[in-house]
Amino acid sequence: MGSRAGCLAWRSVSCLLNIGNGPNKDIWSRRPRLRRQDGRQAPGGDFTGAVVDSRRYFGAIRAVETMISFKLNGNEVDVDVPEEMPLLWVLRDHLAMTGTKYGCGIALCGACTVHVNETAMRSCVLPVSAVQGAEVRTIEGLAGEAGMHPVQQAWIDEQVPQCGYCQSGMIMAVAALLAKDSDPDDETINKSITNICRCGTYPRIRRAIHHAADLQQDSA
Ligand code: FES
Ligand code: FES
Repeated sequence: MGSRAGCLAWRSVSCLLNIGNGPNKDIWSRRPRLRRQDGRQAPGGDFTGAVVDSRRYFGAIRAVETMISFKLNGNEVDVDVPEEMPLLWVLRDHLAMTGTKYGCGIALCGACTVHVNETAMRSCVLPVSAVQGAEVRTIEGLAGEAGMHPVQQAWIDEQVPQCGYCQSGMIMAVAALLAKDSDPDDETINKSITNICRCGTYPRIRRAIHHAADLQQDSA
């Protein structure tokens, strides 16, 4: 099990333990109604005062694994994972593509942005089954044989990153925008690039987008 799945399992179990042992424990059922996919009670359903191995528990209730095939940065890949697992987890935990980052997990920040069939998508909320047969590109596959993508070059020229955590998602979002609109104005940038940068590098990002558009036109 990947680290993210283990973390999720542990949080779920901690939550149940708090319910079972907290101030309202007398009004909660001592056997929480957790059920497996087949409708039967999951093993270890009584969490009151129990010490629970979250990995064993999560393993008992997780969904059936399915073989999913897609193209990742130009190469065919097959993964044997639950079909509802977010693409982000598959990329990071199963395919070692850790350039794509986890920020919010709820499609708000854009740190997890990748391209699916050349469209920018937030991979933290995209079930891996949705990319069956698709072409997925991550930051690791953005540069071509001729060298860096114009957006990457512009990011270096304008010295955009501060901590850098948001930047791979930001670059992927901008690359997808420039593929559709080669010279976006500020209003288009505001509407299209909704990724969040906690370091506040937005002025440099805007400059770099215009610079990348120029570089892209020069190389066309
Ligand atoms: S981690 Fe996906 S949008 Fe924030
Ligand atoms: S550079 Fe730090 S979050 Fe964007």
